[in-house]
Amino acid sequence: MPRKVDYGFRYEDDNYDVYEDYDYDYADDYDYEEEENGIAPVTKAKQEASRTGVWRCPICTYDNENSMSACDICGVLRNPLVKVNNKGDTAAAAFKFDAPSPDDLVSNGLRSVKSKSKGEDSRGRGTNFLVESELAANGLVSSSTSVTRERHNGVEENDSTSGSGNKPETFNTRMDTESLPSKSGKARSIIERKTESISQYIPEKWMTPNNKDDGLSQLNLAIVGHVDSGKSTLSGRMLHLLGRISQKEMHKYEKEAKQQGKGSFAFAWALDESAEERERGITMTVGVAFFTSRKYHVVLLDSPGHRDFVPNMISGATQADAAILVVDASMGSFEAGIDAIGGQTREHAQLIRSFGVDQIIIVVNKMDVVEYSKERFDVIKQKLGTFLRSCGFKDSSILWIPASAMENQNLVANPSEARLSWFKGPSLLDAIDSLQLPERDYSKPLLMPICDVIKSQSQGQVTACGKLESGAIRTGSKVLVMPSGITATARSLERDSQLCNIARAGDNVTVNLQGIEGNQVTAGGVICHPDYPVQVTNRLQLKILVLDISTPIVMGSQLEFHIHHAKEAARIVKILSLLDPKTGNTTKKSPRCLLAKQNAIVEVVLQGPVCVEEYSSCRALGRVFLRSSGRTIALGIVTQVIKREE
Ligand code: GTP
Ligand code: MG
Repeated sequence: MPRKVDYGFRYEDDNYDVYEDYDYDYADDYDYEEEENGIAPVTKAKQEASRTGVWRCPICTYDNENSMSACDICGVLRNPLVKVNNKGDTAAAAFKFDAPSPDDLVSNGLRSVKSKSKGEDSRGRGTNFLVESELAANGLVSSSTSVTRERHNGVEENDSTSGSGNKPETFNTRMDTESLPSKSGKARSIIERKTESISQYIPEKWMTPNNKDDGLSQLNLAIVGHVDSGKSTLSGRMLHLLGRISQKEMHKYEKEAKQQGKGSFAFAWALDESAEERERGITMTVGVAFFTSRKYHVVLLDSPGHRDFVPNMISGATQADAAILVVDASMGSFEAGIDAIGGQTREHAQLIRSFGVDQIIIVVNKMDVVEYSKERFDVIKQKLGTFLRSCGFKDSSILWIPASAMENQNLVANPSEARLSWFKGPSLLDAIDSLQLPERDYSKPLLMPICDVIKSQSQGQVTACGKLESGAIRTGSKVLVMPSGITATARSLERDSQLCNIARAGDNVTVNLQGIEGNQVTAGGVICHPDYPVQVTNRLQLKILVLDISTPIVMGSQLEFHIHHAKEAARIVKILSLLDPKTGNTTKKSPRCLLAKQNAIVEVVLQGPVCVEEYSSCRALGRVFLRSSGRTIALGIVTQVIKREE
């Protein structure tokens, strides 16, 4: 997930002129003459670019370096369709590993997305996701699989086995005695690593928080919703109102946006930094920014709403503790978002729920367009509320906020607009402060999935970004970087763009690593405790819930496999059993195919190895999404990590 924005330390207000004529009323300023919903007209996608050394993504048409196995922008795999032999052979050998060169693994972080080519139109297909609660209802997630979290409040309580059910975790499938393949295809040296059982893990005292000294906690807040609903504008406006974007910067965005005939996107430009995003008027990669509320250091994850960029949305929003779902109140726009075919309001709500997020703020945005009508708000609340309940959100965990990002109504203060005086609830900022932090997994060893890597060639520094899913890290900690298997030292840490000494489970940080090369740290990898390496494999057993699909899943079906920030081409090599959705009991062994809404146990082989844990041991590293042709076709959890196939 390319991380492209950092509003942590940009206060260059000296020398700035006060622009008294600054005009935030862009309502008349829409510029849709060339675009529908902010999407550029269809451009004929070519499979391969004429430029040598690059391949053109068939979905977004970005020219990727030949060595990239997945599109750098929209995440679509280059060669997802791998030939299967007609016996439905289970071997992984059919995969052709498309190895990137070390140079291309340099940085998934602040690499420029500024020269991307125009994208093709969307595919117009909808996705119907089922959510974690439904997984539970369908017997996919039993209540016993929930990660035990009650023992994080004291270092003396040192038995931390709980998450893996009752069976002791032995890590017998870890890569401790094998040679690890690198993405460059070269075998790494054999790692003779002693792995410990998690049951023996005792967190050190500094690893558990001390509420007196720790200050505000971080809240990872995903901003999701249908394309063009105003997510980036809302995010940019909040950052500006809370002083994270200076007046000078804001004026610059406004001026440049107007010059390009995109005046209404000035606030969105704070988040949409690349030339292509600005030209197309859509977010393509997740924007990350920070602000401080009364209660939290908020990490804003501004997701793309366009369906071509769902893989990026998954990678960003998978870190969310809570979410803001932005809907467009305008007539027809809300309806498009909630539409069963192609509506991203629906898709994002379902995805967010399946990430385990249960607290959601619904911002009914663009209320200015509907004259701040209470009737319109009520209709939206009623229709969307019914849908959210069907996704498993509880009424008590949903907050409804009518707002206008454009006219600054109900964002950081109660509305000044008389037509909104009927609303007596909290402002958006107050609503954010009313969210509760999920429990954090302090009692287990460090696991930090890497969402971005930034390499500064001039200074020879390698920095990994991501959210700690469990454990803690501090300056000077020795860490193991997987899947390369290299031990490095955390030279420095940053949280909320400020240097810090310690980061713990739940914190979204950048870790500056020492003693490791840039090509040994990859997005989709995991930073872990040296004695408790994450498992690495290309073969997994999954419990899946098939979504609304029209083509059955059969043995040999080719899929895109998504797990935390990693994605790989995958193939179904075994369909072991069908499960009763209510009891989870096996109803049929070895069925020939899987149909919509069926629950099943399957085995998949991946094109390349991924870092993974069983869901019962670490939810964030054991939750998978299977996609095909731009649609999510199944949700699942990892039930067994099978020894890696060579
Ligand atoms: P994607 O990231 O591409 O999904 O879009 P988005 O949800 O981030 O929408 P964005 O912020 O780019 O805004 C899309 C358009 O809606 C822009 O022209 C904004 O000016 C406009 N817009 C956003 N909020 C409001 C609002 O409160 N009122 C009105 N009238 N327009 C708004
Ligand atoms: Mg956006």
